[in-house]
Amino acid sequence: MERFGPVIVDRPAPAVDRVARAQPDLWSQAAARYERTGGESGQWIIRGEVPPEWSVRRGALVFELKCTPLGQVGLFPEQAANWPWLRASIESPPARAPTAQGLRVLNLFAYTGASTLAAALGGAEVVHVDAAKNVVAWTRRNAALSGLADRPIRWIVEDAVKFCKRELRRGARYDAVILDPPSYGHGPRGEVWRLSRHLERLLALLAELTGRQPRFVLLTCHTPGYDAPRLGRMIEAALAGAPGRAEGETLVLRSADGRTMPAGVAVRWRLASDG
Ligand SMILES: C[S@@+](CC[C@H](N)C(=O)[O-])C[C@H]1O[C@@H](n2cnc3c(N)ncnc32)[C@H](O)[C@@H]1O
Repeated sequence: MERFGPVIVDRPAPAVDRVARAQPDLWSQAAARYERTGGESGQWIIRGEVPPEWSVRRGALVFELKCTPLGQVGLFPEQAANWPWLRASIESPPARAPTAQGLRVLNLFAYTGASTLAAALGGAEVVHVDAAKNVVAWTRRNAALSGLADRPIRWIVEDAVKFCKRELRRGARYDAVILDPPSYGHGPRGEVWRLSRHLERLLALLAELTGRQPRFVLLTCHTPGYDAPRLGRMIEAALAGAPGRAEGETLVLRSADGRTMPAGVAVRWRLASDG
């Protein structure tokens, strides 16, 4: 059970399937409950006041939320742990001169854009890539709600791997990379993304796009079997000895009374000379 602003939702979370409810009486307060009907699909059962869209603010960022068919609401709150790190990494004195517009950051599998907006807030020029057109349109509304509509953000609806290959052919270069790859997904023309099969290749493309000297790489992941040390080793292998260090962290959702629920991992790689 989670509260997003005025709306309380009750959603399946495999990480806590076997954990007893601490306060069973509270659960009837959920205005919307997502029930799985099989596999990844399911449906919302609306029991209370749930507007078609509502918004929440986190610091300077404002997000439009809504109950989506896949049981999400448009924000992964566990990602908030990355935003101060992102801003600090972008704002810290550069090891080498960024472009006149600021650091060029590529954000892949960018969803509704929280990391894009956090990076833009820090002064970066961001290329935001996601396969879903409606999700990219949603992010642009989040940018406008957050007062960031005029920031240098390029919005791309494309398959992540295909986009990276095309950028390489065009000679594009990036200073830093953010990626939040799902276990399984597909591009706008049905291109299949399977993390277990494609992540290594994608990291190799990203290493090329950053000249093997990215200012930082932020990789988050929710795929079973891919813990932070394993992902850190994959980044280091792709960057082939670049002077940097990967730090891993388990992402968590925290309850008001201090309990935590694991919600994926973050690996933060930073160029050593950036301190
Ligand atoms: C943010 S990721 C996954 C989030 C979270 N880590 C998880 O595992 O549930 C989901 C996003 O990736 C996008 N996506 C999936 N396959 C893609 C692909 N091949 N290329 C670009 N974006 C893709 C989806 O449209 C969606 O917005």
